[in-house]
Amino acid sequence: MRFETYRLYQLWDIWLALVITMAAVEILLRLVLHYTPPASLLALDILITLILCLDVLAQWARRREIPGHLHVASHARPSAAVAMVHKVWFGMDILVALPLKFLFNAAIFPLLQVLKLARVAQRMRQWRHHEVQHTNLLRLTFFVYWIALVAHWLACGWLALDGPTKFNSEAEPPPDSFTRYLRALYWSVTTLATVGYGDLTPTGNAQVAYTMMVMLLGVGVYGYVIGNVATLLANLDVARSHYRENMERLSVFMRYRNIPAGLQRRLRDYYAYLWENRLGYDESSVLADLPDSLRSEVAVFLRRDFIERAPLFKGASHEFVREIALQLRPVVFTPGDFVFRAGQYGHNMYFISRGTVEVVAPNGQTVMTTLKDGDFFGEIALLSSQPRTASIRAVEYCDLYTLDKETFDHVLEQYPEFAAHIKEEAERRNPQNVQG
Ligand code: CMP
Repeated sequence: MRFETYRLYQLWDIWLALVITMAAVEILLRLVLHYTPPASLLALDILITLILCLDVLAQWARRREIPGHLHVASHARPSAAVAMVHKVWFGMDILVALPLKFLFNAAIFPLLQVLKLARVAQRMRQWRHHEVQHTNLLRLTFFVYWIALVAHWLACGWLALDGPTKFNSEAEPPPDSFTRYLRALYWSVTTLATVGYGDLTPTGNAQVAYTMMVMLLGVGVYGYVIGNVATLLANLDVARSHYRENMERLSVFMRYRNIPAGLQRRLRDYYAYLWENRLGYDESSVLADLPDSLRSEVAVFLRRDFIERAPLFKGASHEFVREIALQLRPVVFTPGDFVFRAGQYGHNMYFISRGTVEVVAPNGQTVMTTLKDGDFFGEIALLSSQPRTASIRAVEYCDLYTLDKETFDHVLEQYPEFAAHIKEEAERRNPQNVQG
């Protein structure tokens, strides 16, 4: 299913959910309060039935795609069991859309439309799976939605069991329908939330039994709320809680190991920088969890800005960019850090995504040059298999990408243009050390 089509179906689902919710609220109220619906409500009834008919068409169109999967070829056939489930759902869609309530006068026919809420629940589950950005917020919203609907239904049940005699005493005139409903809703909310002030008490055996049942349900709901909503709220900002947890662990560790104050500050600065720039996430570990096909796409996307800016990659082929993007590993250096020192053996070369580094001569004093965004360094040691010809010191926070020797050699072999460019630059920088 194409993304735009999916969005269109999603809009339709939201619309359908609104309509069905209206129906599920109003139909029950009408049944228990026994009021004669005004003309506007009858028009709404007709509109709802029309929308349900249109939804049958929408579901039929949708059935040709594999439900719940984006980008799945439409010729892929579902298994027999899945096809059977589709048929049952589709049968229910048709049954609910039939204008039976206009033809027959039994209470069961308007109630049939409430069955459509099962479709709404099904769609909600799918949204939650597809919506990666606000999944916790969605869960919370759906939870509140269902609780509100259940509270309404329970209030309607209370009203249905409310004997008409109760409000017919001589002393007190019977309250109007709105007041009766509001009191019933108040009863259902206090009972569901296990608050139960006891100011509205059941009358008659049926209401007593009903109250006990709702109380038991209330205990379940309460347990669910305590168990789930607390974690849900805590997880609304997963990244921040993850970051806080990491920082606390780090603080304990640093105190325990008596890390000097200056070094502690640098460690904190490093994590603060990671948090500000990447929400504290390590790009490589996120990528490592992905399957190959997705990993290269995500890697190219994440590194596209850098690759587009770096002169070395100008005009590079798509395959080359893909391969390089997949192999680059991000690293961060804080101001004053040495990426490596002259004389060390080198196993990596580096590309600067953001920041400035100084190339310091082996005497440790002379700054030969500075390199910035889009530049690279560390190639000479890899090309010549000699120790590093200079030290590299970060001037500010630097986001670098590193390429290991094995991949470097492989890339040089595979892409001669890239090899020529790198060798040319290495020779310009340090002619004695580069051969071949
Ligand atoms: P390498 O010798 O592996 O490690 C030090 C790096 O500094 C070196 O690779 C080059 O990438 C870089 N470098 C050395 N000399 C210069 C220079 N004159 N100008 C720019 N970069 C240099």
